[in-house]
Amino acid sequence: MQRRIAPAASLSGEIGLPGDKSISHRYAMIAAIAKGQTRIRNYSTGADCRSTLGCLRALGVRVEGSGTEFAIEGKGLGGLSAPAADLDAGNSGSTIRMLSGILAAQPFRSRIFGDESLSRRPMQRILRPLTEMGARIRARAEQYPPLEIEGSPLRPIDYALPVASAQVKTCVLFAGLFADGATSVAEPARSRDHTEIALREFGADVAVTGSRITVVGRPKLTGRELFVPSDLSSAAFFIVAALLVPGSRLAIRGVGLNPSRSALLDFLTSMGARIGIPDLECRNGELVGDIVVEHSTLRGGTIDGGLTAALIDEIPVLAVLGAATEEGLTVKDASELRLKETDRIRTVIDNLRRMGVAAEELPDGMVIPGRQKFRAARFDSFGDHRIAMAFAVAALLADGESTIDGAEAASVSFPEFWDTLDAIARS
Ligand code: S3P
Repeated sequence: MQRRIAPAASLSGEIGLPGDKSISHRYAMIAAIAKGQTRIRNYSTGADCRSTLGCLRALGVRVEGSGTEFAIEGKGLGGLSAPAADLDAGNSGSTIRMLSGILAAQPFRSRIFGDESLSRRPMQRILRPLTEMGARIRARAEQYPPLEIEGSPLRPIDYALPVASAQVKTCVLFAGLFADGATSVAEPARSRDHTEIALREFGADVAVTGSRITVVGRPKLTGRELFVPSDLSSAAFFIVAALLVPGSRLAIRGVGLNPSRSALLDFLTSMGARIGIPDLECRNGELVGDIVVEHSTLRGGTIDGGLTAALIDEIPVLAVLGAATEEGLTVKDASELRLKETDRIRTVIDNLRRMGVAAEELPDGMVIPGRQKFRAARFDSFGDHRIAMAFAVAALLADGESTIDGAEAASVSFPEFWDTLDAIARS
């Protein structure tokens, strides 16, 4: 699908956004192996989280509901059934990596696959710890989907993650639920901790000491009522748009502000962004608040080290922002970006250049000088949701109407993105 995007004179209004993608996946998967019913409100509308529900249904889990509200009948730790067909993870790295931790421990064989993009993403990172736990998994060319999983009893491990990855951490912790004893994961940099919080909500024993997370196997997980806050990574597109388009003022309701995700707001504020959070509340262990953002003059900055891991999903839209700051943006230590739905260093730089924006590619990042102008252009999502939405924001700043090919990719995390943009952009 192709879309035209006109430059915006300002953005204004009050918006709600879909539920957080990371939290939705986790709630659904844990609900499936808990005992009793879990009711989830504000579940993500994105295709990725539908893929997770589809896989759970194929494993014999009753999932009822539609839109954003679902009831999941938990089968308990030993209650999943062998799927009649291959499990389809679609475009979702979270689905294949996190669910594999559960599948590895089942007394049956399963096969899980994904779309063309997911079929090129590395799975070695989960195969290594799972194999150490006793899992039997075969991957295409030893590292790519599809994965053929011959379920087997697992033993606990103490695993040091080579790269900061919440998906891998979650995979190992989920596998640890089925092992006798305590399974630990140590992180080289802090990654999002929704799994730790969610497991505790369902009743698991999770301890965090410094950078090490430990889960005790065979817990009593109990179904419950849960609410998913709005997705801060989706909010990021509108936050950046409102900061950059003169005269803008936007309120975004009920956004998840978990400290392991909210580095985005601190980073922007440190550059001079006018962002307010009138009040905060805690729901199911997650911080939630409204965000009010106004057009601001931004200095620019550097994203490196642990900050890169904390901002990894926001870097495409921050790259767009960088070009409009006073001093520009440097991104380092971000080779993980090359392993996302697309090589996001390449796809970001390719689209920036199409808009006449100078950008230097580094092996593990990029340098984007500040005070640049965006030229109207035709660009591509390359099938990557975050690239589609980041460049929709860039198009709002251009000197004429831009065109994006593959605009439908936004639906992977945010099907309502284009309508929301239409509702707040004044031309
Ligand atoms: C996610 C973790 C991150 C992130 C992805 C969602 C999660 O991936 O990029 O969008 O929900 O755990 P990695 O674990 O590969 O860093």
